[in-house]
Amino acid sequence: MKQLLAIISTVVIITSLVVIGYTFRQVQDQRTSLADDLQLRTALLADSFKESIRPSYLTNSTATLQSLLDKFENREQLLGLAVYDSKGVLFATSAELPNDLTNNNNIDTAEKAMAGDDAQGDFAKFTEGNVYVFATPLHQDENVIGALVVYQHADYIDAAIRHTWNNNLLKLLIQALLFSIAVVLILRWIIYRPIIRLAEAIRQARTGKYGHKSPIQSHAFFKPITAEIAKMSQSLFLARTAASEEARMRLEKLDSPWTAERLKEFFKAYLKDRKIFVVSNREPYIHKKIKNEIQAVVPPSGMVTALEPVMEACGGLWLAHGSGDADRLTVDKNDKIQVPPDDPKYTLKRLWLTDKEVKGYYVGFANEALWPLCHLSHTRPIFRKEDWLEYRKVNGKFAQSLLSEIKDVQRPIILIQDYHFALLPEMIKNSRPDAEVGLFWHIPWPNAEIFSICPFRKEILEGILGADVIGFHTQQFCNNFLETVGKEIESVADLEKFAVTHKGHVSNIKPFPISVAFAAEDDNDIPPKSSVLETLGLNPKILGVGIDRLDYTKGLLERFKGLEFFFDSYPAYKGQFTFLQIAPPSREGVEKYRQFNAEVTKEAERINQKFENNSWKPIVLLKENYTHEEIYPLYRAANVCLVTSLSDGMNLVAKEFVSARGDESGVLILSQFTGAARDLKDAIVINPYSAEETAEAIYRALVMPAAEQHRRMKKMREAVKNYNIYRWAAEFLKAITSLV
Ligand code: G6P
Repeated sequence: MKQLLAIISTVVIITSLVVIGYTFRQVQDQRTSLADDLQLRTALLADSFKESIRPSYLTNSTATLQSLLDKFENREQLLGLAVYDSKGVLFATSAELPNDLTNNNNIDTAEKAMAGDDAQGDFAKFTEGNVYVFATPLHQDENVIGALVVYQHADYIDAAIRHTWNNNLLKLLIQALLFSIAVVLILRWIIYRPIIRLAEAIRQARTGKYGHKSPIQSHAFFKPITAEIAKMSQSLFLARTAASEEARMRLEKLDSPWTAERLKEFFKAYLKDRKIFVVSNREPYIHKKIKNEIQAVVPPSGMVTALEPVMEACGGLWLAHGSGDADRLTVDKNDKIQVPPDDPKYTLKRLWLTDKEVKGYYVGFANEALWPLCHLSHTRPIFRKEDWLEYRKVNGKFAQSLLSEIKDVQRPIILIQDYHFALLPEMIKNSRPDAEVGLFWHIPWPNAEIFSICPFRKEILEGILGADVIGFHTQQFCNNFLETVGKEIESVADLEKFAVTHKGHVSNIKPFPISVAFAAEDDNDIPPKSSVLETLGLNPKILGVGIDRLDYTKGLLERFKGLEFFFDSYPAYKGQFTFLQIAPPSREGVEKYRQFNAEVTKEAERINQKFENNSWKPIVLLKENYTHEEIYPLYRAANVCLVTSLSDGMNLVAKEFVSARGDESGVLILSQFTGAARDLKDAIVINPYSAEETAEAIYRALVMPAAEQHRRMKKMREAVKNYNIYRWAAEFLKAITSLV
């Protein structure tokens, strides 16, 4: 719309300038020609009058002269006539001639004509309007004896010019209107519509909807582009067929890496395109109103980072809480929207919660009770009965929404995500025993002793045990869970198979170390420039990065302490090493998070004040959410990445860092309390509670020889590549659908 207005305004402005310029010239010519004509006509008239009145003037016959003047006066445009004697005294005037034309101030022209013995003409303004005053001398023999003055109306010249302007401006208005309509029609029919059709055809070609016969129709204008797109679409189709064939062949060869293609093929071959339903609290795309525009924002969530590529590969429906202020504006009447927004591959269904529900279920029970209960980070869980009741109610609400979606689907596969839905597996299974339900618990599971403080533990465990498969990141969490179940509820545990039978239903408990998609090799060729660093005007000699939600489990205060120790112990790095901490605020409805946010800022400021100089500070703290595309170049630019969680189910930042380092450089410092520390043994593993250990690890990382960096990074990359998110999904799906 903006562009359209810009084009129309440009056309209108240019047309107006041309018309105004042209009219300006036209009226100038018109004025000159009308004035010339008036002057000529007046001169001729004056000459003929002069001859007629001369005898009466010479004979001083005032009456005859008067009647002659009156007779002449009736001519068109003629305002009147006057005769002056040689002294400039008015001798006679025509009857209708207004007085002010002949008073003493206005006899210049007559006097000039007599003095110079030559006719004179002047345009002058009177109360009657514009008047052309023409004076011609009267002679006796050779002597000037007076002057005849002819007064002509000249207003019609201005009127004619005004008429021309009005005419041309009206034409301009009509032209501008017609041009604008023409521009709109041309843009719409010749450009906009074909482009939309072209874009749709390209999209279909890209997503492989119409194979290589993608019907691209377009205006002749676009023919050359269409032809190229048709060729490209064919090549894409062939490449896709080859990739799919290769993936199919690789299916059986388990040593080859899992890819999105392979997962798709696996899905087709073994699950016969059965439908997948994912349920999570956090949605993969949040629509927000940002500066009067609606934008789709990807939230900072390890769970979303992991699940999104799986859904993109398998399709299906993802049910989540619609938490964005523009979420309702972007869904259809069934609360659904196709995502990713620029390349839809699956359906997101949003479920709406009231403020009371969010407060009780999400802020209260999920984040003030279960989160600190499961993370060993010395934050006391708060158990409130009213939160628990909301939690149960919201689990029920999600169950109803999901049940309506799977109503007509046979043996649906349901992947429930995280600690927000401990009760959902049982609710679903009770209504739909044929559904195959997996619950993946993305956070740690504490030991039985710790879990026993939860007043609602029995219901939680029974809810979870409704799932056919219960997944954790590590074997340790599986052990803890089994131990907790054994302690808290009546059930039979099969320690060999790691299965629990409760109320006749068997749940398998298995570790599935979650991962990332692993960046394509091509992405790793050229180190991309970091727009984040550029915007900040940062060009550090040595760069350290940390990327975490602002969460007390992430060990940010401990990390900063470690940095303080580092600069105290190795002052030579002052001015050389900058640590960039990206920490988007999280769960701001929770008091503990608000406090933590303030503490982190204060601590960063304290350390900065201690070491900073005019041009450098040790810690750059950015409390904003950045996209994966913005963060990737930061990973690539960093010499070291710090992950210092006090307790973390997996931590995908560590795996993303490794995945981004196609150059096999850079060092990862990783807390021993993350699930990732079990998979990434070649990181420098630390106890984040020890600031000295963190400081030493930073120093070790910065002086680590390139060869050692390569060796370590290579091994870590192998580990992530080998067990990427596609493999995670395949293993989880196999377990749920009893394929293993
Ligand atoms: C952890 C949880 C996720 C959650 C994420 C962000 O990674 O395992 O389920 O989405 O934190 O937290 P939030 O409360 O903002 O969704």
